[in-house]
Amino acid sequence: MIDFSAIAASQLPRLLREMPKAELHIHIEGSLEPELIFALAQRNRVALSYPSVEALKAAYAFTDLQSFLDVYYAGASVLLTPQDFEDMAWAYFQRAAADNVVHAELFFDPQTHTARGVPMASVFQGLTRARERARTELGLSSELILCFLRHLSEDDALATLQEALPFRQDFIGVGLDSSERGHPPEKFAIAFAQARALGLRCVAHAGEEGPAAYIRNALDVLKVERVDHGVRCLEDPDLVRTLVERAMALTVCPLSNVKLCVFKSLAQHNLPQLLAAGLKVTVNSDDPAYFGGYINQNFLELFEALPALGAQEAYTLARNSIEASFISLLQQGALIARLDKVFEEAASSVR
Ligand code: HPA
Ligand code: ZN
Repeated sequence: MIDFSAIAASQLPRLLREMPKAELHIHIEGSLEPELIFALAQRNRVALSYPSVEALKAAYAFTDLQSFLDVYYAGASVLLTPQDFEDMAWAYFQRAAADNVVHAELFFDPQTHTARGVPMASVFQGLTRARERARTELGLSSELILCFLRHLSEDDALATLQEALPFRQDFIGVGLDSSERGHPPEKFAIAFAQARALGLRCVAHAGEEGPAAYIRNALDVLKVERVDHGVRCLEDPDLVRTLVERAMALTVCPLSNVKLCVFKSLAQHNLPQLLAAGLKVTVNSDDPAYFGGYINQNFLELFEALPALGAQEAYTLARNSIEASFISLLQQGALIARLDKVFEEAASSVR
């Protein structure tokens, strides 16, 4: 048993940084830093509509999800070759390892690339090479989750799934992202049924900007195993009961939610209420290059803004991230033992 009361508030920032954690909600294209966007634009002779890194950064003043997506897709337009995808993902893995991320499940948006004529094989090749390096050089395990863009048609999603099948061994699941409002989960019922039949794990963004009903339909129609964001679930007590009963994980992204005006400030974020309701909440970075920080920045700023969050909550959030991941129970057990050790040492002030 960890004695959380023996951990002083002053130890918390270090504990948040050092605790081993899994990241389950990161769009790899959203890890593309402005400097790398410009370097790749130059390397590939791609014209950007922003004259400088500073001008690009100045565009990072978002008012909602769509205003972000417009800039995010422009940034991703510099990615052409396997090397570009490898460089992008390798940069993320190095930052994640520095934050003590021990396992990461990465979203990627193939339609954003294939629509520009980039071969599906280039996307997989680059990401797979970076994953291999992360495993051998950083001890960081990872998986890929192929996201369908929900503003496009289901036929487009189905064609994308077919195109990805030669690389079936390189991805573990499918997700659903992009513009949420007006594109409910049920639009992709057939694509998700096909994915399930292929043995793919299913997750979906729901209840970020969209209503609680989208979360309900992600569960009932898409049969998702995790809900990405899901913060609007509190609007429907019946839904909360279902989510708690099923121990359904929510991959919450605090800095993203503030940047995209889902909440006015971190102090007003509903994460403490989600935890108090018994929901299996995790903390993630979403699009760290655009939203002001990687996973530890999310933890640190969140705990700074919400004094109700302490060592017990830090432990719960890290443990949830491991338990909600798609790694085996055996590997989960090993990671939880590492997590316990970090907290036990903090509680006995060995360090
Ligand atoms: N929400 C929806 N789609 C996305 C996001 C997001 O935060 N990031 C990249 N695609
Ligand atoms: Zn997201």
